Amino acid sequence: MTSKTPIHLTINGHRHELQVEPRVTLLDALRDHLGLTGTKKGCDQGQCGACTVHVDGQRVLACLTLAAQAAGRSITTIEGLAEGDGTLHAVQAAFLEQDAFQCGYCTPGQIMSAVACIREGHAGTDDEIREYMAGNLCRCGAYPHIVAAVRQAATEVAS
Ligand code: FES
Ligand code: FES
Repeated sequence: MTSKTPIHLTINGHRHELQVEPRVTLLDALRDHLGLTGTKKGCDQGQCGACTVHVDGQRVLACLTLAAQAAGRSITTIEGLAEGDGTLHAVQAAFLEQDAFQCGYCTPGQIMSAVACIREGHAGTDDEIREYMAGNLCRCGAYPHIVAAVRQAATEVAS
């Protein structure tokens, strides 16, 4: 039997204490232990990007990150992107306006990845957006609309 250890996670500005086995991933900690189900599990092997969150502002795959590795760092999930008053983040609004999703399962990861992609300065051209968003799969084939949404949001953020 594996013993559980206490860890503190700061998620969307709130500090959480949980008891988890060391093998628990950040993805499972978010979904199963904290009820933050916006972050999705499409593969659990680092191949789809549905689990993308930010750790200290960088996009990471939560399925390949142990919860313990994220302890003491600042985690942002899709639930923490909008303003406190409900105003959507520019990327969220752009995804709605550009119809950049269909089933919505890849969307939280796409949006978290897009926010980081823009912040990294990798949204200069459509080709660059396609390349730097390639880690996020969408089986609904929303890619052209996703590129349009990222382009729109990047323009808005820059202005
Ligand atoms: S669930 Fe993490 S990359 Fe697919
Ligand atoms: S919107 Fe369905 S997988 Fe992307």
